[in-house]
Amino acid sequence: MVLTFRSWFTLIDRHTPWWERAKRAVTLATTQSRLEFHMPAIVLIGAQWGDEGKGKATDLLGEQAQWVVRYQGGNNAGHTVVLPDGQDFALHLIPSGILTPGVTNVIGNGVVVDPGVLLEELAGLEERGVDTSRLLLSADAHLIMPYHVAIDRVTERYLGKKQIGTTGRGIGPCYQDKIARVGVRMQDLLDEKILRQKVEAALDIKNQILVKVYNRRAIDAEEVVDTVLEQAEKFANRISDTKLKINQALERGETVLLEGSQGTLLDVDHGTYPFVTSSNPTSGGASAGSGVGPTKISAVIGILKAYTTRVGAGPFPTELTDEAGENLRKQGGEFGVTTGRSRRTGWFDAVIARYATRVNGITDYFLTKLDVLSGLETIPICVAYDVDGERVEEMPMTQTGVHHAVPVYEEMPGWWEDLSDCRTFEDLPANARAYIERIEELSGARVSAIGVGPGRDQTIVRHTMA
Ligand code: IMP
Repeated sequence: MVLTFRSWFTLIDRHTPWWERAKRAVTLATTQSRLEFHMPAIVLIGAQWGDEGKGKATDLLGEQAQWVVRYQGGNNAGHTVVLPDGQDFALHLIPSGILTPGVTNVIGNGVVVDPGVLLEELAGLEERGVDTSRLLLSADAHLIMPYHVAIDRVTERYLGKKQIGTTGRGIGPCYQDKIARVGVRMQDLLDEKILRQKVEAALDIKNQILVKVYNRRAIDAEEVVDTVLEQAEKFANRISDTKLKINQALERGETVLLEGSQGTLLDVDHGTYPFVTSSNPTSGGASAGSGVGPTKISAVIGILKAYTTRVGAGPFPTELTDEAGENLRKQGGEFGVTTGRSRRTGWFDAVIARYATRVNGITDYFLTKLDVLSGLETIPICVAYDVDGERVEEMPMTQTGVHHAVPVYEEMPGWWEDLSDCRTFEDLPANARAYIERIEELSGARVSAIGVGPGRDQTIVRHTMA
């Protein structure tokens, strides 16, 4: 509610001189309306290497938001959302807000879209009775073309032992074209002449590389254009000026959830480069990838798994390659939603959490999968690294430092109880509460929600997050 100058004037102490009352009322009325205007955009991001359980958090927060916007990545992501009736949905491209009636979902300008995958996902949702009419596609989002997928796979194969372990979905090559200014965007689907010109120009060079460097078949530009135009017929009506629409929604006071994919340590700038994805999952990417200015963002919610996982290659200081790691994988069901690959597992790494808090400006954490840790005598938390004999409390500056990092552990007492029915913080065993409080101390941000099972209702909310 916004109070007017008149209301503030009457509320201020009658004994204050009238000119003083007027001055204060002006300040209060203008400051308050500015706050109202700035409040409603919330960013939700992964604080580790992805797969932290963002789908569940978005689904939960989606209930309080009128808009859910994805701002980067593509169908390299994978969210599983379990509804109260037990149905589960695997989403790769479409925001999980699609499952909440009344929410408008946006694939933002920072996302890269494979049209075939988009249609498949829409058809899958519609088959199960989900209303998809509230999905908008940014006119500025880039398209993943068949040549991006071909180049992604062939490059990885050629890298051999040095490969990044990409999802093979054409993400990197599509972003390369975006930055090289030879990409194809959603809006090009609305102008066939331009589309043909762009695809032909891109393939002129790419076919040379595919044929001459990688010894692969050339890709036919006409075939690519015809296929994508046929696909576009089914979704062109969704292409929209989403930057304008989201900002208009903010001006109306609606809540917008900006949903990141992957995680902080997979960020091309802040992650464990070069073992990263090709976009900015960190909160800074939310503005660029949606068109919402930073001054309109009021909260940054980090999703943090109670332990750590990683898919693909690259450094992972707390990785467990023994039975304990296997147990976490089994108990946590740690297999990729997108690729089905088994995830690497390890203990909670507080150095990473501290880093994520800082580079994202995290205001609150949603700690997921705490239930997976039940039944352990003690639970190690990595509080620092030993890098070549030196104790380091923060993320090492260099890639070599991260590769040499050996975790320094602190042992926390475990618990045996099943947590799946806990619904308040007090319901949790004392040792589980102590584990959470230690994570808060070490990471530098409060844990406002805790996941104790895959179900939508298996969540403990401690503090209002936005
Ligand atoms: P790309 O995003 O397919 O180029 O893959 C680059 C790196 O990011 C690889 O190590 C992938 O395994 C990882 N990656 C991409 N998307 C996800 C995700 O949603 N969760 C976890 N890891 C991911």
